[in-house]
Amino acid sequence: MKSVSLLIQNARQLLTLRSDQTGPRTGKHLEDLGMVEDGSVAVSEDKIILVGKTKEVLEQIKIDKRTKVIDARDKVILPGFVDCHTHPVFVNTREDEFEMRIKGKSYQEIAASGGGIKSSVKALRSKSKEELVQLALPRLDRMLSYGTTTIEAKSGYGLSVADEIKMLEVIAKLNRIHPIDLIPTFLGAHEIPEEYKNRRKDYIKLITEKMIPEVAKRKLAVFCDIFCEKGVFDIEESRKILTVAKEHGFKLKLHADQLSPLGGAKLAAELGAVSADHLEFIDDEGIRMMKKAGVIGVLLPGACFGLGLKEYPPAKKMIAKGLPVALATDFNPGSSMTESMPIILSLACLMMKMTPTEAITASTINSAYAVDKTKEVGSIEVGKKADLVIWNVQNYKEIPYHYGVNLINQVIKDGKVIPSPLAGEG
Ligand code: NIG
Ligand code: FE
Repeated sequence: MKSVSLLIQNARQLLTLRSDQTGPRTGKHLEDLGMVEDGSVAVSEDKIILVGKTKEVLEQIKIDKRTKVIDARDKVILPGFVDCHTHPVFVNTREDEFEMRIKGKSYQEIAASGGGIKSSVKALRSKSKEELVQLALPRLDRMLSYGTTTIEAKSGYGLSVADEIKMLEVIAKLNRIHPIDLIPTFLGAHEIPEEYKNRRKDYIKLITEKMIPEVAKRKLAVFCDIFCEKGVFDIEESRKILTVAKEHGFKLKLHADQLSPLGGAKLAAELGAVSADHLEFIDDEGIRMMKKAGVIGVLLPGACFGLGLKEYPPAKKMIAKGLPVALATDFNPGSSMTESMPIILSLACLMMKMTPTEAITASTINSAYAVDKTKEVGSIEVGKKADLVIWNVQNYKEIPYHYGVNLINQVIKDGKVIPSPLAGEG
């Protein structure tokens, strides 16, 4: 008999996300929710030790005074969301740009006139590490209250050696002090900073010769990402930067084919990236090459929605062709100002025609693959972290269907119940 610190029992639907498919779920396997009706999960400290039908779980454990028991009758349990693409460390919000876009200006026009990423860079450089930590904490609280328990977090608003290091140190500190797990990504190639406007080659040299070696030496990031886009970093420049990053041991990600069909998806395949993200303008050859190379397509419908664009990534085509897809918020002040994964699931369903089932798989186990963390998170299985969300719904399909409100009952992170000030918030 195993001793149990937490038991969640009698769940109407327990979505374990177990599957026969090894590796990221593709095609029909996106529907493998591993659902247990009348399910229970037993936890010891921070790990899951038993999962199954309530009756079977109860037979195998010993409950004592120290066991916290939660009744999930008439509720649904899911793994915590893995938000595999976020930019959560920033200073200023950019609602004026939001209004400018509503009035007809494009994201690129705003960026070209000194707004956009450059305005976030200016503000970030003026703040201390501690100030940045304080600004980010409530955002992480909000993510957690909407069911996210692991995030990937990018730098990319520093764009100097010192400021990129500062951002990554902020991410490391947030990881230490906040319940959410943060996986750090170096995004020095997010934009050409103002002072290098007419010397882009020099900035690329700064990235490859100073930033990448320094970030690698200090072990401040797991991934290296780049904004591969017309007017930002072209294919040749992206190949050069990412090749150096790979040589320094970074795993790779790309902002690819977001605003134009530049060929970032193909580059991701060529370089063996873990994921290529955005992909609104991916073509058939890009899908084929990514699939062959085992690159995950991270879809960010919040960025299309936040920019008011008509073009969404061709999710159904990707799924039909067997490409693994994941979902994330792209939380950032420019294009996607939301910490909420549930709204991303709604957008995935409504705007990309993914089914609720596919959206759940894409935002849990597949997004865990997109950050290479499937040994620890992404599904409810013995040995994984007890990162669980209890939902006030009768059926998991209600989660994307009942949009824009918080339907969460309780969030459990590392086996601990998170006090939830925002639960029930509209
Ligand atoms: O993922 N595309 C580049 N980066 C972000 C936007 C960053 C910003 O505007 O501050 C994105 O959409
Ligand atoms: Fe992004």
